[in-house]
Amino acid sequence: MEQLKIEKMRQFYDLFPYPNRPLMISPNIEAHLTAHGGFAQLLLQGRLLLAEKLWNLAVKFSKGNLELSKEEWNALLIEMEEAFPKSKRILLVGCGTDEPLLFRKLHPQNEIIGIDLSRRAIQKARKKISFHSIINIITNHKKFKKVEFLLGGAEMVLPEKALGSFDFIQCFGVLHHQPDPLSILFPMVERLNAGGILRLMVYSYHGRKLERRIQSRYSHVWNQFLQKKRFRIEILLKYILLRFWQFLNFLGFFSSTGQRFRYLGLGSVSVADALMHPSDPGWPLPYIYEQATQLGLELIYCEGKLEKEGHILGFENPILAWNKIVEGDKNQELLTNPILIFRKASKVE
Ligand SMILES: C[S@@+](CC[C@H](N)C(=O)[O-])C[C@H]1O[C@@H](n2cnc3c(N)ncnc32)[C@H](O)[C@@H]1O
Repeated sequence: MEQLKIEKMRQFYDLFPYPNRPLMISPNIEAHLTAHGGFAQLLLQGRLLLAEKLWNLAVKFSKGNLELSKEEWNALLIEMEEAFPKSKRILLVGCGTDEPLLFRKLHPQNEIIGIDLSRRAIQKARKKISFHSIINIITNHKKFKKVEFLLGGAEMVLPEKALGSFDFIQCFGVLHHQPDPLSILFPMVERLNAGGILRLMVYSYHGRKLERRIQSRYSHVWNQFLQKKRFRIEILLKYILLRFWQFLNFLGFFSSTGQRFRYLGLGSVSVADALMHPSDPGWPLPYIYEQATQLGLELIYCEGKLEKEGHILGFENPILAWNKIVEGDKNQELLTNPILIFRKASKVE
């Protein structure tokens, strides 16, 4: 039963690889400084001021008003590389199409392995790295180091001891799609070295009830996925209709949904991911913390944005911040999907 759900998900991501941005678009490391392994290490070392500075720089860059000299920028990168040296191993679980390139740019020398269920997602990720490696040779006279990819369900791949152990595991936008999130969370913790970092992004739970209701309208189509031809035609028709609705909604034709689904923009993948996903049961936020701590993980940071309070950042007291985020989600005030950073405190029994 669960295997069938995962198979539907594989079909989905083969049809709609995520985020599937154009080949020439490369993620900016400046906007993703907090994804660097060094950010988590700074938190562990108690260097909170520098970590907060990185967070602020990333936000400023995203808003387009970052002014940093090349020297300042290089000095920051050196600090982060010292905190997270090139000997450390990185694993990306459910890596999608763009994350491997982002991590290769953030960590030019580290060993990086990406796991994904979808063959097409991995093909696109590989192409993206090759393309930008050529650009890097032209502009910096340096080729990108390889990223290794493993095709398959993480619940099957992660228990393989041959993978070895990792210092940093990122699993973004993946756990809430699993019929059994623990089937991935548990082996990820096993693959972490003691003191290693697990960085997660999970969907808000209560805030996405409407999305889940809409997705259920498409469930009968996904149930036909073994009848290949009929399935493809039906999915294509439904997708075209959804894109048409998305376009009109973007132009403000529907007052009831205009504001609520503004975040979809005009992107071709975002609308399928939000509204047609075959496996999006959600994962109630309180369980994540509870289960993570039971597995020997210690929360060292979290972030989310609430409607009234703005950004909630867990630099000083991550547990208090997390409780606020969970409460905000319950009140449907959580505007972003929360990010959590854990440290593996001890060996899992
Ligand atoms: C929403 S995308 C996120 C991609 C990437 N992490 C990011 O944040 O851009 C989810 C990805 O996880 C992969 N995925 C979902 N379930 C998986 C599983 N059980 N094992 C391996 N990959 C999985 C999908 O194929 C898809 O590429």
